[in-house]
Amino acid sequence: MATIHEVRRAFCLSRAQLFGVRDGVTAAIEARLVGRESSLALLPSFLRRPAGLPSGTYLALDFGGSNIRAARIELAAGRLCVQRQVKRPLVDPAGRYDYRQRVTTTELFAFVAAVVSEAAGEAGGLLGHTFSFPADQTDVNTACLRQWTKEMAVAGAEGKNVQQLLAAALGAIGRHDIEPVALINDTVATLLAGAQREPATVVGTICGTGHNSCYEEAALPRPMIVNAESGNFDGAPANCFDEALDRQSQFPGRQRLEKMTSGQYLGELVRLAAGEAGVALPDDWRAASLAPALGGKTDHDTATLVRAVTERAGQLVAAELAALVRRAVLAPGATPVVAADGAVFARLPLFRQTVQAWLPVLAEQPARLQLTPDGSLLGAAIAAAWACEQR
Ligand code: BGC
Repeated sequence: MATIHEVRRAFCLSRAQLFGVRDGVTAAIEARLVGRESSLALLPSFLRRPAGLPSGTYLALDFGGSNIRAARIELAAGRLCVQRQVKRPLVDPAGRYDYRQRVTTTELFAFVAAVVSEAAGEAGGLLGHTFSFPADQTDVNTACLRQWTKEMAVAGAEGKNVQQLLAAALGAIGRHDIEPVALINDTVATLLAGAQREPATVVGTICGTGHNSCYEEAALPRPMIVNAESGNFDGAPANCFDEALDRQSQFPGRQRLEKMTSGQYLGELVRLAAGEAGVALPDDWRAASLAPALGGKTDHDTATLVRAVTERAGQLVAAELAALVRRAVLAPGATPVVAADGAVFARLPLFRQTVQAWLPVLAEQPARLQLTPDGSLLGAAIAAAWACEQR
């Protein structure tokens, strides 16, 4: 047992520690670039930041950690218009199904294909796929799942070509008229969508169920956007609550930064901290309880813990983003922009404000955070369009 102040202090990071995280991320990138051991992956996307917006109508799929969304999207005269959208949770709130755990890979992709088919309607089309898990790509339409994250645990998918699984599932329901043409990570989708609106966008980041960022790396034989898989960064100072949460997770040792910053884990971190401080939380406490707690709808001690966990998450994400902004190629004179999406950015103003406040401090230059709602879906349509132009 500890006092609430001792527990709160366990989540406080000094300025020096935050600069240390920034430099640790930079060192991990540099190590990966020269082929040394690193907790960052820098997975190639085979895409660069777009100059201008192509036109046409495309299908877009957003396969995230909590929901499957699909839409028909029209790109025209520099504008994007979502024409028809279907969204389904991976886990039914009424308990009738769970596509995160208790199904086979074939059943999971059959579920995904049904959502795509419903959004497409009668007409088929070319499909861009935002897939929010680490995948090894050999071109823009070939990607093998490395491993599940965010506590997703469907057996048999790891190592498989995700676009083949999707095409087979679409074929099985007779939708040969829907052709998957591009797969991108959700951070890459957010960067593409952000750059289309604001050309100074150099980094894409997600803080939702999971956490990750991407940027365009110049020091490659072929410069392109790389998916850093920064949620796996293992150099942030961890406290005893982080260690306990990691031990009880699906994959101990993996995704250490994600476990300190993302929606899948923040609620649980507060629960562990509250247990130590003797603060009683409601039985149905979860990540979605954080926003009301910060909005004054809870007792003072709970709010103190939620604030400490949220602020630390924002500081850590700012330190990581600062490292990426310092590496990214900037247009002379432009203030670099980080395109951000995900429920933690959208629903926790304290998190967003903390990232924005610390980003320029830790980057040691001006830098701006720009919320990019629906980046995952819009980026998928943009990627499909670019993939077709390059055929
Ligand atoms: C995945 C990333 C993804 C991030 C945000 C992480 O768990 O590994 O690929 O970008 O979640 O969705």
